[in-house]
Amino acid sequence: MTVHLSNTSLFRKDAFINGTWCPAAGGARRPLHNPATGAVVAEVAECGAPDVDHAIAAAVTAQAEWRNRTGAQLQVILTRWHDLVMDNVDDLATLIVTEQGKPRAEAAGEIRYAASFLLWFAAEAMRAYGDVIPPTNPATRLSVIRQPVGVCAAITPWNFPAAMITRKAGPALAAGCAMIVKPSEDTPLTALALAELARQAGVPAGLLQVLPGDGVTLGKALCASPDIRKLSFTGSTQVGRILMAQSAATLKRLSLELGGNAPFIVFDDAHIEQAIKSAIAAKYRNAGQTCVCANRILVQDSIYDEFATRFARVVEKLQVGPGSDPDSVIGPLISAKARDKVEEHVNDAVSHGAIIMCGGARDNAGELFYRPTVLRDATPAMRIAHEETFGPVAPLFRFHTEAEAIAMANDTEYGLAAYFFTRDHARAHRVAEALEYGMVGHNTGLISNEVAPFGGIKQSGMGREGSRYGMDEYMEMKYICTDITDHTA
Ligand code: SIN
Repeated sequence: MTVHLSNTSLFRKDAFINGTWCPAAGGARRPLHNPATGAVVAEVAECGAPDVDHAIAAAVTAQAEWRNRTGAQLQVILTRWHDLVMDNVDDLATLIVTEQGKPRAEAAGEIRYAASFLLWFAAEAMRAYGDVIPPTNPATRLSVIRQPVGVCAAITPWNFPAAMITRKAGPALAAGCAMIVKPSEDTPLTALALAELARQAGVPAGLLQVLPGDGVTLGKALCASPDIRKLSFTGSTQVGRILMAQSAATLKRLSLELGGNAPFIVFDDAHIEQAIKSAIAAKYRNAGQTCVCANRILVQDSIYDEFATRFARVVEKLQVGPGSDPDSVIGPLISAKARDKVEEHVNDAVSHGAIIMCGGARDNAGELFYRPTVLRDATPAMRIAHEETFGPVAPLFRFHTEAEAIAMANDTEYGLAAYFFTRDHARAHRVAEALEYGMVGHNTGLISNEVAPFGGIKQSGMGREGSRYGMDEYMEMKYICTDITDHTA
């Protein structure tokens, strides 16, 4: 029951509260399983409401001091945190492989992605500019300053155990806020290791805290507290709605990065090889377990058969296996529930006429492995057309015209990411503007990075992460009006 790391200080199983590693107040622990093997990896502290109260009190004190530091001082500490994360890529990747299951190369890529948010927001800490507004009355001067929101909380998902923490904690700290992180029950170890590196970087006690534990219990306690001024959540739309309702009484600011149902449209003038490569990246990254994964692949009628055949030929060669095996490309799903949903979607599609071109079954690498699957002849009557599969299944839909493709793409309650492939310049503008999504990839299946705003519309949530806009989520705007009349004259 151990994980082999070079830097053993990163293997933490207790909560990190007020700069101290401590068991949960009630002493409870939860076994954590490796999804590739089912083995217990650690017994992790299971925090409860008293731990939340303890953390909030520490955060209030820490934030009161932190908010008065200069941008340059915050930049130094965040840059140090970034550097320490980069120095420990291998160990952090090992933690991700062990608790989340993604292949090692992808896990290391996630750590670099996570670190990029720290470096980006370290620089943004120096740029929390306000405004001077030309007045309507010559006797007044109008200005706007931006100030930290205060103590914030983040509830983060298992699919990106590191990046979804730095994408929230980075801007929070850069803006002068404190952050309490409630990581997923499935992936607390990476979060705790990041907290240890933040401590080593000089992040003061109470400013960044990590409380592993049950989402319902801790979510309720965080939402109920008037001291938590802002909550940032990445996860399902269903849970996002619950958190929003629970935050109503305290009128918390919210950032919600929720579910998606990304269309991936291939027009007949697309470069087919490029579209296939991009579809592999957009669909099978993290075994299909990302909010921006292509969920529906829409292919124009005249190239449908060619695309389907060539795509399935590549997909069937993707190697399934534990993330620790360097040859694995498709790791396990996170849980039996996740695997069952994938199976249900495939069975439902087949019962409505879809044809399995490859995959379509569990893999014998282990209980939670599912073969990368391509389904042709998918139709809107299938569940897979409307629900996020969150697994390695690509259903291929057929369309005839640009208008039909746009209508099909927008026929969903979600609006996170969309992708389309065309070499026609005018069409590219038309389609990008018509897609009802927060993010659009044109001739690419990989759109995420630290400098661009990540987020969705409709039932995919609200707010943006990363980019210069990411800081706004953690800052209040204060308008100051000054009468400059000299009343002594
Ligand atoms: C997510 O799945 O929520 C995040 C994916 C990304 O950052 O690319």
